[in-house]
Amino acid sequence: MDAEDDARMSSDKCQRINESPVAVVIVMVFLLCFAYALTYPHEFLDIATLTRLQDSSPKINASLCASLASLNLTKPDIESLMEQNRRLSEYVTMLAVTLNQTTVTLNRTTQERDNAQSLLSIMIEDRKAGPLGTVKVTPTNPTVTPDEFLNPRLSKMLEEVAVRREVLVVMSNKFAQEKLELWVAHVKRVGIPNYLVIALDDETVAFCGQNDAHVYRRDPDQKIDSIGKSDYAGSVSGLKFLVMREFLQLGYGVILSDVDVIHLQNPFNHLYRDCDIESMTDGHDNGTAYGHIEEFIDPDMGWSSSIHTTRLWVYNSGYFYLRPTKPSIELLDRVWTRMDQDPGQWDQDVYNEELFFPSHPGYSGLYASKRSMDIYQFMNSKVLFKFARKDPALRKLLPAVVHVNYHPDKIERMRGVIDFYVNGNETALDPFTDGTF
Ligand SMILES: *[C@@H]1O[C@H](CO)[C@@H](O)[C@H](O)[C@H]1NC(C)=O
Ligand SMILES: *[C@@H]1O[C@H](CO)[C@@H](O)[C@H](O)[C@H]1NC(C)=O
Ligand SMILES: *[C@@H]1O[C@H](CO)[C@@H](O)[C@H](O)[C@H]1NC(C)=O
Ligand SMILES: *[C@@H]1O[C@H](CO)[C@@H](O)[C@H](O)[C@H]1NC(C)=O
Ligand SMILES: *[C@@H]1O[C@H](CO)[C@@H](O)[C@H](O)[C@H]1NC(C)=O
Ligand SMILES: *[C@@H]1O[C@H](CO)[C@@H](O)[C@H](O)[C@H]1NC(C)=O
Repeated sequence: MDAEDDARMSSDKCQRINESPVAVVIVMVFLLCFAYALTYPHEFLDIATLTRLQDSSPKINASLCASLASLNLTKPDIESLMEQNRRLSEYVTMLAVTLNQTTVTLNRTTQERDNAQSLLSIMIEDRKAGPLGTVKVTPTNPTVTPDEFLNPRLSKMLEEVAVRREVLVVMSNKFAQEKLELWVAHVKRVGIPNYLVIALDDETVAFCGQNDAHVYRRDPDQKIDSIGKSDYAGSVSGLKFLVMREFLQLGYGVILSDVDVIHLQNPFNHLYRDCDIESMTDGHDNGTAYGHIEEFIDPDMGWSSSIHTTRLWVYNSGYFYLRPTKPSIELLDRVWTRMDQDPGQWDQDVYNEELFFPSHPGYSGLYASKRSMDIYQFMNSKVLFKFARKDPALRKLLPAVVHVNYHPDKIERMRGVIDFYVNGNETALDPFTDGTF
């Protein structure tokens, strides 16, 4: 190969550098946006932004290419090349972020389209069942028509705060302030705009004011206010079922979070939105979280001493998402009514009984569709301390949230979680025991 061939090849390479990676990314972004615009015209990333992106695309300098072709680079050429290279990589990063945002939005749109399709298919359904393998019942119930006149103050607040009619809600009073401070700080750190603190006393309203946190205080109500001001976490916890009702009636989907939760990612990016309820579970592996059959032995029965039981660890009522549907509202009503009649019960037990017990003589069960949240994305503190921190692969995984539900030394463990996942301190979880004795 002579020098001329060499030069031609380098020059060809130049052409390709000039045209290919940037051009391909631009074309991909445009195609994605175009597809998206067709399905979702109103929330489309504005064309002006994309055009600006394209205009700012750095062009490879022609005379630089010529220098490259001769393979006789001078020092200023190299510096100029490095500068152009830097600008190109900045540009590609910018495109990647845009692409990523577009993908998130597209994913969400796909979910919404699938939901709409399954609803439509119920409405126009042929009542005859099809052949084997084609019959599928949808878990996706229609959302309620928003009742705007119910609570204009909350309605206005939700219009400002919610994103795509969804909001992350935490309820707190002054006794949980230290945890609330961590909760708010990390919701903000992750950049979750659509959150709301429901303050149960004046101290919490003031605290949110100082911390520049979105806060909502309900209109005064003697009975609820006295429960809300209690330092007994159990009774405060039951109250949330009543308070959430208004959010759903106004047509908003809600994630209800306890205050002992650290957010490490935006949880709304990890919802399926196909069921009335998506709930965190107290389970610690696939069987306990998603269901299994367990054998029970009754020796009296001899030949039939083995009895199979269906088992599932309870859903955690400290972190769950509700779509604004009638079954979701019925769940809240059932739990609140029973808590109101007998405040000594644990709201989590009542929540699970209502969710899972089937209809039986004298009782009509709740027909709500439900989904167990992923135990590694919505991680309880047993999964973290007993398993995940000891497993090399699971250690590397970043959960969306960690809920310190299994341990009473909440603040210390919440700080440990932050130090491990946020500050990258590899040994931050080491001082803690698996359980608590
Ligand atoms: C191309 O680069 C050369 C030096 O390598 C510089 O003198 C010239 O101004 C550049 N042209 C453009 C359009 O950037
Ligand atoms: C490289 O360029 C310099 C300055 O333009 C020139 O003096 C030198 O002869 C060139 N070397 C080759 C191998 O072409
Ligand atoms: C894409 O977005 C997700 C969720 O917002 C984020 O976790 C991830 O780091 C982003 N990736 C890039 C390359 O920006
Ligand atoms: C979009 O959804 C696909 C598959 O459901 C998933 O693999 C991908 O990570 C999602 N992307 C984002 C940015 O959420
Ligand atoms: C647990 O369930 C997940 C998701 O359903 C699956 O990908 C994984 O393989 C299961 N693990 C085991 C050990 O069965
Ligand atoms: C990491 O955490 C451990 C355990 O809490 C602590 O002893 C250590 O000082 C921490 N390291 C840093 C760099 O903060």
